[in-house]
Amino acid sequence: MSERLLLVLDAGTTSTRAMLYAPDGARIATAQADLTQYYPQPGWVEHDAAEIWTRTLQCARQMVDRAGGADRIAAIGIANQRETVVAWNRRTSNPIGRAIVWQDRRTADQCAALRAAGHEPLVQQRTGLVLDPYFSATKMRWMIDNSPDVAAAGDALAFGTVESWLVWKLTGGLHISDAGNASRTQLMALDGAGWHVELCALFGVPQAALPEIVDNAGDFGATLPDWLGAPIRVCGLAGDQQAATIGQGCLAPGVVKATLGTGAFVLAPVGEAVPASANRLLGTILYQMDGRRHYALEGSIFVAGSLIQWLRDRIGLIAAAADTDAIARSVPDNGGVFLLPALSGLGAPHWRPEATGMIVGLTHGTGRAHIVRAALESMAHQVHDLAAAFAADGAPWRSLRIDGGMSANDWIAQDMADMLDLAVERPCDVETTARGAAMLAGVGVGLFPSLEAAVGMAAARVRFAPALAAPVRALRLAGWRALLAQAAQGAATD
Ligand code: G3P
Repeated sequence: MSERLLLVLDAGTTSTRAMLYAPDGARIATAQADLTQYYPQPGWVEHDAAEIWTRTLQCARQMVDRAGGADRIAAIGIANQRETVVAWNRRTSNPIGRAIVWQDRRTADQCAALRAAGHEPLVQQRTGLVLDPYFSATKMRWMIDNSPDVAAAGDALAFGTVESWLVWKLTGGLHISDAGNASRTQLMALDGAGWHVELCALFGVPQAALPEIVDNAGDFGATLPDWLGAPIRVCGLAGDQQAATIGQGCLAPGVVKATLGTGAFVLAPVGEAVPASANRLLGTILYQMDGRRHYALEGSIFVAGSLIQWLRDRIGLIAAAADTDAIARSVPDNGGVFLLPALSGLGAPHWRPEATGMIVGLTHGTGRAHIVRAALESMAHQVHDLAAAFAADGAPWRSLRIDGGMSANDWIAQDMADMLDLAVERPCDVETTARGAAMLAGVGVGLFPSLEAAVGMAAARVRFAPALAAPVRALRLAGWRALLAQAAQGAATD
């Protein structure tokens, strides 16, 4: 093996991983470590940033050993859970308090107050994002207001999303964030360079604490020699959903990807014009290269795989996630049961942070399989709502490429094709996030002249063709809509 390899660090929500790729796209090895999830109060979700770092480093070291040493690695690409905020001290490089995770709802009141004060239209127009606790800005402000250590840090305070934190640690003090990750903070205008002064003032975030915004590919700096045995260049950075879109080869309008991970994130590339959604979708940066921005429309669903985890770990309805396929097939239909998976509020296109989950339609005839099937069906129902919003925004889906842990479930893949009445494709290797980060690192280090040239790294796919009769689909959708209406009514009378 003479060619040098690409090392990907994929710091996700529930686990962090390192993977080795050959430049032809072959995945050579993977190391993975779980992350501790902290739920200190209802609606709060935190991570220990020190743990993210040490576990990522430990995985990276395994991969460097596997490669045969740091000199066998051409470059590092990083993909990360987006929006999650880490605060750290520039002088000690230690985190200040726990990171607030993207799923965390603690700033719902702050967002409601900003909305009530009439700020949403301008924020949406500038950032492409709605006012929701999902994004980083209100999380940063919450830390300043509620953590005495963050407030006292003064000019030693550094904020960053997870890629920014990892680059800081890897390089020993480089404070950067790629444009795609920066576009999720709500502090950067989609069409503006650098941080937006008025947005920083509106959310009360000191610009001095924020990283420098850079491209998604380039030669950003080298790791400290001690971490991985010798310096390795860091050449690719991307939020995991952007990375997966790139890794699926979805670079042109109409070819859409949906990652079914902890949550489900649908991104549709829209080209170089700034997108504006009239249907509560998000406008976001897909990637920036040589200063040129490529945009996407995004639908973010907060609960996907985490619903299956909840069924397993909290409710005890299933023993293993892999069992759900067979359980869903064991009944002919949902038996009239519908499930609203609003365990972290509802994301796009509804944006109701206060919504809670519901299961309706229970009778004496309801069994475990009906509830599990209703849970799986809720994935296609949510994605169906997004497809309608994308079409209404003038970005209809021509094909859908799925990935993420939950996409391995054939029943879900087929149900999605059936409910969307659209062919769904799944790559044979569903690790598209890491593949996308490898592609960016490959471009950044000069192995490929462009992302388009790196698309050869994308994997072969299997296809699920729609096969459901229209009246059955209509009945399912009617049940789902009735559930949404019931949830909205419940909220109105609370
Ligand atoms: O926006 C949140 C998203 O980036 C999280 O992705 O794969 O860690 O669940 P994942």
